[in-house]
Amino acid sequence: MAACCCTGLSAQEANHMVLKANKLGAEIQPTMYGHFFEDINYGADGGLYAELVKNRSFEFPNRLQGWKTFGKVTVLDGGPFERNPHYVRLSNPGHPHKRTGLENEGFFGIGLKANEKYRFSVWAKGNGQKILVELIDPASMGETQVMVSGEIAVNSADWKKYELTLTAPQTFAKAHLRIFLASGGDVDLEHVSLFPVDTWKGRENGLRKDLVQALVDTKPGVFRFPGGCIVEGTDLATRYQWKNSVGPVENRPLNENRWEYTFPHRYFPDYHQTYGMGFYELFLLAEDMGAEPLPIVNVGLACQYQNEDPKAHVPVDQLDSYIQDALDLIEFANGDQSTKWGKLRADMGHPAPFNLKFIGVGNEQWGSLYPERLKLFVDAIRKAYPDIHIVGSSGPNSEGEDFDYLWPEMKKLKVDLVDEHFYRPEDWFLKSGNRYDNYDRKGPKVFAGEYACHGKGKKWNHFYASLLEAAFLTGVERNADVVYMATYAPLLAHVEGWQWRPDLIWFDNLRSVRSCSWHVQSLYGHNKGTQVVPLLMDDKAVSGQPDQNGLFASAVWDEPTKSYIVKIVNVSDKAQPVTVEFDGLKKKTLVSEADCILFHSDDPDAENSLDRPNLIVPKESKVSVSGKTLQAEVGAQTFAIYRVAVQQ
Ligand code: AHR
Repeated sequence: MAACCCTGLSAQEANHMVLKANKLGAEIQPTMYGHFFEDINYGADGGLYAELVKNRSFEFPNRLQGWKTFGKVTVLDGGPFERNPHYVRLSNPGHPHKRTGLENEGFFGIGLKANEKYRFSVWAKGNGQKILVELIDPASMGETQVMVSGEIAVNSADWKKYELTLTAPQTFAKAHLRIFLASGGDVDLEHVSLFPVDTWKGRENGLRKDLVQALVDTKPGVFRFPGGCIVEGTDLATRYQWKNSVGPVENRPLNENRWEYTFPHRYFPDYHQTYGMGFYELFLLAEDMGAEPLPIVNVGLACQYQNEDPKAHVPVDQLDSYIQDALDLIEFANGDQSTKWGKLRADMGHPAPFNLKFIGVGNEQWGSLYPERLKLFVDAIRKAYPDIHIVGSSGPNSEGEDFDYLWPEMKKLKVDLVDEHFYRPEDWFLKSGNRYDNYDRKGPKVFAGEYACHGKGKKWNHFYASLLEAAFLTGVERNADVVYMATYAPLLAHVEGWQWRPDLIWFDNLRSVRSCSWHVQSLYGHNKGTQVVPLLMDDKAVSGQPDQNGLFASAVWDEPTKSYIVKIVNVSDKAQPVTVEFDGLKKKTLVSEADCILFHSDDPDAENSLDRPNLIVPKESKVSVSGKTLQAEVGAQTFAIYRVAVQQ
């Protein structure tokens, strides 16, 4: 068991660490720990975006995917929204006992919570018709399938939006929505929508509250979006285009989601991007979280994994519209209302700028195709917006040929940060505690933009992987003069709709669970500190070297709380006695009792799940400090954090 008490061990017996208390080093960037969001694993539609109706605008390539119809239902073209032109007509079935209508299956069903209100809305056109709206249990064995229903009178021959609020009588994860024509004549329906009223901050077109809360609760400092591979697209036509994701939600055109088919063994034929949660909503989310937004734009390259033919990409001399998209995005975020895109942001409800400081150009690119395109973006952005920090890419791998080629190229282009991605096995994490110790201090800074420890065999979000992430992050923290940002990936996954695992947060239609990796991110986010402080064992950084007993450690000073925060990760299977001697305190004295947080699982293969979300959570206690020395025993396979305040 992990222990947090005073061990009574002498410095000779223990792992003796020296914290150089008066040597405040690099500032820890406010952006250091954050989130990377991509619509993968039904992270947006069917996940964070609280819309409960799938294919609400009848724009999926199979126009009625997600819907069942009965009676006389026709799909028509030329509806009220230019970029989503399809709609349905419900016509009188011709006999009083027959019925016309349609039924939506939601995303793996529609999740309802007892006594919660749900806002149904629809754009409709008719002439005194009625529609009946029902939330049903399609597999009900009881007397009725209908849980709750309501009627809408369609009283306008012109397209008009109608709303109805339904209160769910029970909690149910897999409801369906049915709509019947409840009168004679024809009625036309478009953009059929159902949202919980209780979204994050109560916003219409809002986000799922429990999932946003899980994001906010890590105290993220940066928020990268919208990808990831979806920025590139399988082809350029299907790349993420931010301009399609803003303006009235009804008129944002559908895009395919490449995660529909990227992994043939996890194929989801109904996975598309409605852009309902578009760039406006993503900027707003960053603001809500107190995180710096970091949007990524396409550099004129379609996914290079899927396109070896150079013709799949934009020729270097034809990049103007792509570069303009990047410049316009900065205007959308920061421009005042006299500008075209600043005005759109204001019209959407946010007159104040979003104060964008960072932009990423390209995702996982490689080869000369990338820098020759990136250069044109860098030149244009520097010219128009010299204060914006540009993030370039070092490719899909944490080392190797592409990585070694791109880093010098990024230096030549003088990008501000370089994005590094590493989905790596346990032994890589064990060996990488000192990854950043010898990085060039004068070059671009590092954004560890996508990282995750991938376990062996059938282990995904198990505790041990998160422990190794905690160990790795001590090296990130120690090198805060080089590493400015770190974000785990992927962020979200629906348990029935994932394509990629492990993931930071899992959810179903009603519940969500914070993985062990989430807890590690959160512990770092809450114990970030303000400046690095050297912490040495035998005059060396504690980075899991062979003679360091499986220990990784780092320390920071936290100015607001006037505390030193020491993080120690013991990856070994033995408890390790540790003494931390605070050297150079001068006139400062330490409190006699420090706060201690331990993150540990007796079973390294165990993980949190929807049924047992709090199986493995950090535990708080106290540890005594004797004079200038903290003595503790860090249990086997334990991440320990000690907050040692200075006497005021
Ligand atoms: O996080 C999943 C994918 O991993 C991202 O889309 C991509 O950047 C990386 O290959």
